[in-house]
Amino acid sequence: MRLGVRRLAWEDLPVRVAWFNTPSVYTHVPLDLPIGLARTEQWFRDTLMNVSRVDFTFTDAQRPQEEQQAFAGLTNIEPVHRRAEMYMVVRPGETGRGIGTAVLRWLCNYGFANLSLERIMVTTLADNQVARHLYARVGFVNEGVLRRHFHYQGRLVDRHVQGLLRSEWEQQAWHTPQPVPFSLDTGS
Ligand SMILES: CC(C)(COP(=O)(O)OP(=O)(O)OC[C@H]1O[C@@H](n2cnc3c(N)ncnc32)[C@H](O)[C@@H]1OP(=O)(O)O)[C@@H](O)C(=O)NCCC(=O)NCCS
Repeated sequence: MRLGVRRLAWEDLPVRVAWFNTPSVYTHVPLDLPIGLARTEQWFRDTLMNVSRVDFTFTDAQRPQEEQQAFAGLTNIEPVHRRAEMYMVVRPGETGRGIGTAVLRWLCNYGFANLSLERIMVTTLADNQVARHLYARVGFVNEGVLRRHFHYQGRLVDRHVQGLLRSEWEQQAWHTPQPVPFSLDTGS
């Protein structure tokens, strides 16, 4: 499948709300539930003024207006320290088809080549082995566990940390030193 990439837009928000209220997503992404459209619109308005994050929508290139396949982004972008965190969510029901791998590679290429980052990190909840397996396969290194780090659903939970350095990204066959175009292939 060929994916197009664009900045997250107002028209994506109802789809994003529906995904984040899906159990296969909200059990792995620690957000205050339920996620409503009004709160998401307020959140999005705030992101438009926030230079420390960039949020993308990945669409079926054949039907870019109605077929969102993934949302992903870089947050806590720190220009001085040249680091950022990443997140990603693949359309529920479409996982396991290579979309996540392609999106993650694109996001890393964007962060290192377009933004000149030195480090991208990601945190996951303890039971999200699927995501950690994917991040490790793409090249992320396990860096440890922040124990009882995050208040989520009434209790303190661990966050697993993985990171990818520029030097490690440069060793990946898929890395692109030139700024990445806003499209990609998933290989399926
Ligand atoms: C994590 C996520 C982004 C992965 O996206 P994806 O499109 O399924 O990723 P891919 O298809 O490229 O590959 C995922 C790998 O996990 C495996 N996988 C996918 N779904 C799985 C499942 N339900 N159970 C076990 N393995 C699974 C795939 O087979 C593949 O393994 P492989 O590398 O050995 O072939 C997606 O599952 C998702 O959106 N999860 C919910 C939100 C989330 O957890 N986000 C990350 C929070 S930081």
